[in-house]
Amino acid sequence: MAILAIIGGTGLDALGILQVEKREVINTPFGEPSGPVTRGILCGQEVLFLPRHGYDHHLPPHQVNYRANLWALRSAGAEQVLAVAAVGGIHADMDPGRLVIPDQIIDYTWGRPSTFFEDGFEQNGEGVVHIDFTEPYCQTLRQQLLSAARTAGIEVHDGGTYGATQGPRLETAAEIARMERDGCHLVGMTGMPEAALARELALCYATCAVVANRAAGKAEGVITMAEIEANLKGGMQRVGELLESLMPLSKLG
Ligand code: HPA
Repeated sequence: MAILAIIGGTGLDALGILQVEKREVINTPFGEPSGPVTRGILCGQEVLFLPRHGYDHHLPPHQVNYRANLWALRSAGAEQVLAVAAVGGIHADMDPGRLVIPDQIIDYTWGRPSTFFEDGFEQNGEGVVHIDFTEPYCQTLRQQLLSAARTAGIEVHDGGTYGATQGPRLETAAEIARMERDGCHLVGMTGMPEAALARELALCYATCAVVANRAAGKAEGVITMAEIEANLKGGMQRVGELLESLMPLSKLG
């Protein structure tokens, strides 16, 4: 049975619906993960949980050790990884509070360790260096999420391009206008290199994005943390419901 790991983002530093069994400190060849991996039971099934920014939210997006996180989750037995991420909405349909299962990525990040393939690392002794990334998200998990949402009557948007920015600052209006011309529907700071690293480890990885705000220049006034937090609250509640609906399906994966 495929063990599902959930990577929590801003607004999901703890998973209240999880019956926690233990927290495992996992050392990796790539340094320390964001914290111990929580192993627990969700709807009768074993799952893993790791908050990307740490349990006390101390790690900004550009300082997350993405390699250690994915390595630790795989070492703990994960085969599927659901990444939960707060995003800004660029496209007019991406209203604050909305859940989105994106299907594409454009990477604008820089300077982040973004591959395992260095210093002699080999995947299964095959020496693969160039992973196929045409479809950056795992279709199996994407479809399971969409089906779970239908079953639970939760509205989610199917598809969209996630633009990954460096952060930690938010973008300028001109940067968002350029991203929109590029074809981005969403903007977030953590989607890369996380998705690519998951693929390098052959993990089935998909994202559930929660729109926290309209991106820079897409609404009147400045973007405040209070606005982001308020929109994430309702969104994360629905992510919990989506997870509960996903569990019986992920067993099949
Ligand atoms: N930009 C980048 N990342 C984000 C945003 C945003 O507007 N909102 C939440 N995460």
